[in-house]
Amino acid sequence: MDRRKFVRLGAVGVAAAVVKPSLAAENLSTEKSQKFVAITKPVMISTWNHGLEANKAGWEVLKKGGSSLDAVEAGARVTESDIKNRSVGIGGMPDRDGNVTLDACIMDWESRCGSVGYLEGIAHPISVARHIMDNTPHVMLVGLGAKKYALKNKFETIKTPLPEVKEEWKKWKKEQAELAKKPEINHENHDTIGLLAMDADGRISGACTTSGWAYKLPGRLGDSPIIGAGLFIDQEVGGAVATGLGESIIRIAGAHTVVELMRHGRSAQEACKEAVDRLISKHKDMTGLQCGFLAVDKFGNVGAYSVFNGFNFALRTNDKEELVDAKHDRSW
Ligand code: GLY
Repeated sequence: MDRRKFVRLGAVGVAAAVVKPSLAAENLSTEKSQKFVAITKPVMISTWNHGLEANKAGWEVLKKGGSSLDAVEAGARVTESDIKNRSVGIGGMPDRDGNVTLDACIMDWESRCGSVGYLEGIAHPISVARHIMDNTPHVMLVGLGAKKYALKNKFETIKTPLPEVKEEWKKWKKEQAELAKKPEINHENHDTIGLLAMDADGRISGACTTSGWAYKLPGRLGDSPIIGAGLFIDQEVGGAVATGLGESIIRIAGAHTVVELMRHGRSAQEACKEAVDRLISKHKDMTGLQCGFLAVDKFGNVGAYSVFNGFNFALRTNDKEELVDAKHDRSW
């Protein structure tokens, strides 16, 4: 199911789409008891239902003893290549001028990190982010500089928006003109994929990649390229990724907040919930403000929590491959 439709459907859609209750889901509901209990390594979790396919690619790496870093990059590349996905990579939605600009970041167990923002016409922003991490003294490159870097390093180019996405954008522009008012930013048409993996050696890495908020103002960056907002890893504690409205996630340094809460003794699940509570406390108007967090602690326990219902994540372990419905604070 298309993720946006999934979000719009709310509780009914969620009930229909969620795979049968699992041990992982039960563990999530007994977070206190799982606090210091390791689940079997490796483990991989990814946001939304597109996370299932991403996890498959990541698992190919993990099951052969590969690194969590290679796993999350491989997983992110799958979603970036999916022409049906309207929130990530080649199929992503454009800004209000009709240009598709992509954001991504990656981080590993040694706190190495790389990031790209406002990158246009490159197939795999996540691999550019990794290349920056591996080969430069910098963390983040954006816009024309990022594009120049990607081209110089022979990264695959793409033509965006896809024709069908362009048609959608043209329709949107026309509607805005007919309404004769300032274009409104569409809260529903954006999201990301965030991935966390712990490999057989217990090393944690994470990645996230997105085309951001559909019809955003040109130049807008969300949380996804920002280390500490969209993604944060500290091997001493665990890792977290965020999804949803980037502006609100940045406001509380979302992923970093989740990790710091785990450092102070919260389970992965408790940390995600407390970060959502904090985010809610910083916003007077919660209309349509969907955000969710995923976390894994250094023992391999996972957690997830969102503001509204409708957020799910894909879980992969040695004996599980499933979609899990995240707990939430409120219903649409
Ligand atoms: N979370 C993705 C974005 O706001 O761009």
